[in-house]
Amino acid sequence: IPVDDFDLVIFGATGDLAHRKILPGLYRRFEAGQIPASSRIIGAARTEQDDAAFRDEAFRAICDHSSVDKDNPQLQEFLGLLGYVAIDARGEGGWQALKDRMRPGAVHAFYFSVAPALFGDIAERLAGHGIAHDDSRIVVEKPFGRDRASARALNATLAKHFHEDQIYRIDHYLGKETVQNLMAVRFANVLFEPLWNAQFIDHVQITVAETVGVAGRGSYYDKSGAIRDMVQNHMMQLLCLIAMEPPYHFDPDAVRDEKLKVIRALQPVEPADIVRGQYTGEGSDYLTDAEDPASRTESYVAMKVRISNWRWQGTPFYLRTGKKLRARTSEIAITFKEPPHSIFDDSGVPKANELVIRLQPNEGMNLKVMIKEPGPGGMRLVQVPLDMSFADALGADGADMPDAYERLIMDVIRGNQTLFMRGDEVEAAWAWTDPIIEAWEDGKRRPEPYDSGSSGPDEALRLMHRDNRRWREIRS
Ligand code: BG6
Repeated sequence: IPVDDFDLVIFGATGDLAHRKILPGLYRRFEAGQIPASSRIIGAARTEQDDAAFRDEAFRAICDHSSVDKDNPQLQEFLGLLGYVAIDARGEGGWQALKDRMRPGAVHAFYFSVAPALFGDIAERLAGHGIAHDDSRIVVEKPFGRDRASARALNATLAKHFHEDQIYRIDHYLGKETVQNLMAVRFANVLFEPLWNAQFIDHVQITVAETVGVAGRGSYYDKSGAIRDMVQNHMMQLLCLIAMEPPYHFDPDAVRDEKLKVIRALQPVEPADIVRGQYTGEGSDYLTDAEDPASRTESYVAMKVRISNWRWQGTPFYLRTGKKLRARTSEIAITFKEPPHSIFDDSGVPKANELVIRLQPNEGMNLKVMIKEPGPGGMRLVQVPLDMSFADALGADGADMPDAYERLIMDVIRGNQTLFMRGDEVEAAWAWTDPIIEAWEDGKRRPEPYDSGSSGPDEALRLMHRDNRRWREIRS
């Protein structure tokens, strides 16, 4: 279904995110017939150039970052929607020209694909020049602050000119099909929810493992580290979707209220329950990629997290994420408790059911169940997988799935905030990570080294062994 006619302004349109994600994503939605041909996409950045030059730039970006057919006439049609205004975010240049481009009656959205330091300047000028109205929407990206105080200041700056229901804070993990599927699995089936609590679940593992390092973006990453780059946002969102109570409806505030309750119920993490790592190795060393030979920033974090509420008392959540690991894999594994009593002579056989939800790649689900081993040798049990890949089950080719950004931008135009973070949610997440970060900064301890291409530091294994548990193997 096409969205309503819109004018979308992309601040920072000549930047990396616009080239890699926003422009190719918009084109794919146009190809899919979701974007009305009357819509306008206006690039705004400091570079002085005209519409034609920006269209050429967009053409190259789309061809370089997606597998489109260059000769498809739709691509030329799409480029026809594009315009450009050179703008001075901190001065007055270009704002009147931008205002003249905006059409009354269309949905107005402003994508702030710029450094957060410019959010305030842009918001102020949009309001001051009468470009943004009460029903305009703004889209902001991470990093949304680097601690609670800065996130709060950023929220206050935006709130001077926009209401909360106009602000779309992107966490691209929420745009992933499989992440949304977590809610479908939990709340559209009667099978899981009755068992989804500490009485039946022994523990949960959330893994986001990457094979890439930080070369090329070391100057950003070195100031963030895995906790700010991945844990405070993406991992936290996954944790919330797994742990939250059922919202009364799939509605923006109902969902976000429940996520916020999870974040508020997180216990502070004990220093003994957290491991930081930094990749090392010939030709693939964090200290070279980050350029600071003395950097103490972590490229890996593993932690044991406890949620203090009735549902989860006694069920730990183990989180780990890192760069330069053995394989790229994101998954959530739920290990159930063993049956309370066994009628079989099966000592030594692992009996816990395990549900693994694979977020990427090979999106799907795997449930380990016990059956009888075939043969005349008596009642011997064996654990087997019930395995499903979403692509096979739906007969859909993964390439047909909209990318996270495409989906989220369309939600902005539709005015649906369900998959965006609310200001209080972001602040609460920082409030939980702040003490962890402060303790590291005070402690001045170096992260544990781990070999590039490995599963992370040995200390992370011990974090689990101590509790008589084991991480799942990282493999694709
Ligand atoms: C980004 C982080 O938000 O997410 C990157 O800044 C990380 O460091 C990326 O690589 C992971 O996203 P995805 O979609 O590739 O899992």
